[in-house]
Amino acid sequence: MEKMLIEGGRPLKGTVKVAGAKNAALPAIAACLLTGGWHCINHVPKLKDIQTIKSIMTKMGVVFQEGDGVLKINSDEIKEYVAPYDLVRTMRASILLLGPLLARLGRANISMPGGCAIGARPVDLHLKALSAMGVEMFLDKGYINAKVEHLKGADIFFDIPTVTGTENIMMAAVRAKGQTVLRNSAKEPEVSNLAQMLRSMGACIEGDGTDTVVIEGVQGLRPAQDHTLIPDRIESGTFMIASTITGGEILIDGGRHDHLASVIEKLQSAGTQIEKREQGLFVRGPEAIQSVDIETMPFPGFPTDLQAQFMALMCVAKGSSVIRETVFENRFIHVSELKRMGADITIHGNQAMVRGKDHLLAAPVMATDLRASASLILAGLVARGGTTEVRRIYHLDRGYEALEKKFQNLGANIRREKA
Ligand code: UD1
Repeated sequence: MEKMLIEGGRPLKGTVKVAGAKNAALPAIAACLLTGGWHCINHVPKLKDIQTIKSIMTKMGVVFQEGDGVLKINSDEIKEYVAPYDLVRTMRASILLLGPLLARLGRANISMPGGCAIGARPVDLHLKALSAMGVEMFLDKGYINAKVEHLKGADIFFDIPTVTGTENIMMAAVRAKGQTVLRNSAKEPEVSNLAQMLRSMGACIEGDGTDTVVIEGVQGLRPAQDHTLIPDRIESGTFMIASTITGGEILIDGGRHDHLASVIEKLQSAGTQIEKREQGLFVRGPEAIQSVDIETMPFPGFPTDLQAQFMALMCVAKGSSVIRETVFENRFIHVSELKRMGADITIHGNQAMVRGKDHLLAAPVMATDLRASASLILAGLVARGGTTEVRRIYHLDRGYEALEKKFQNLGANIRREKA
C-alpha cells in the first residue's frame, strides 16, 4: 500500500493540464459493447477505474489497444456477458455494462453492486427502467441475471435524476423497438458527452442536457471512430480549490466555465479571482478566504464530488460555513480525518457546520473514498508543523491521474511512498 507525504505552506503556481473525465470515459467504453468494429476514444485518462472496466470487458472478449490517451476498442466478438463480483465490488459503475449488453445480446449477468463508503447507492432505478423496457431479471447468488427477447421503448420517469441510470437506459434504448422517453433525467455534461458519442454511432437521441431525453431506437449502429472525452470537471474543480487554499495562481488548461459555473460562483464568493481564458480558467487565490455556504445538487448545482474538497477549504476560511449534502447520505466520512488536523466541524444529519481556523496541523490521516482523499491532500497543502501523511491513497488512483506529479509541477512539496 502507498501513502502520500505532504509538507504544506507553499502557494501553488503554474499551469496544469486536466485529464479526460473519468465519469465520461466509463460509459463511453461501455458503449463500445453496442456494436462490433474498431471504436476510437480520445483523451482517455490513466486511472484504476479505467483498468477495471477494461479487465471486465477483456474477459468478455473485447480487445483494447492503447497509446497516448487514445483507446481503440474492438468488440466484434462477445463470448461472455458476465461482470464478476471481484471486479464490480471495486467499481460500482460496472453497472453501466448492463444496458449495452442487453441491447447487443439480450443477456447480461452483472454482480449487484453493494453499498459503498458514501452511502447505500441502490441501482433500483436502472432496474425499474429496464423492466419497463421488457427485461426480465432475477437475482441469483448476488448477480443480476437479465434477459430480453426484444427491448421495447418506454416512457420512464426517474424518481431521482441518476447519472449512470440515465446513461445505462440511454444505451439500452438506442437499439430498442420504438421511442423511449426519459423524464427527470440527469443533466450532467458526461450524459451529453455519451449522447454525442452514441449519435456518432448512428443513434437518434434528443434532449440530452435537459431533463427529458428522447431516444428513437435504430436497427443498427456503427463504431464510434473519433469520440473525444470532455475534460474532468471534478479534477478542474480540485485544482481551483488548491489554488484558492494555497493563495496560488494556477492556469487550469481544459477547465470549462460552462461545466463549473456553480463552483466558480462559490469560489468567487470566497474571494478567489477567476478569469476565463482561451486555454481554460485562470484562478488566483485570495489573501484571506471567506466562508461560504454550499448545498450539493445534481448538475448544474454544486457537485457532490467536490463537497469534501470544498470543506477542506472552509476549514481555513474566515467565519463559519454550512455545508449541506443532499445527494449521498453518508458523505461526511472525511470529517473525522479533517478533525485530526485541527478542523472545527460539527455534523447534524446531512449538514456540517465548519468554523474556519487560522491554520490546520499536519497529521497522519487515512483516505476513505476517492474525493475524501483529495480533500485530505488539499488540507495537507496548507497544514503547518511538519508532514501530513495520507494513507490508503489507492482510492485517489481510482479517479485522479498522476495527481502528485501535477501538484509537484505547481511547486507543492508532495511525494508518494510505500506505506
Ligand atoms: C455518478 C458519478 C459519481 C457522482 C454521482 C452524483 C459516475 C461513474 N459516477 O454516480 O461520481 O458522485 O453520479 O453526481 O458517473 N439512486 C437511487 N437509485 C438508483 C440510482 C441512484 O436511489 O437506482 C440515488 C443515489 O443513491 C444517489 C442519487 O440517486 O442518492 C444520485 O446517484 P447517481 O446519480 O445514480 O450516482 P451514480 O450514477 O452512481
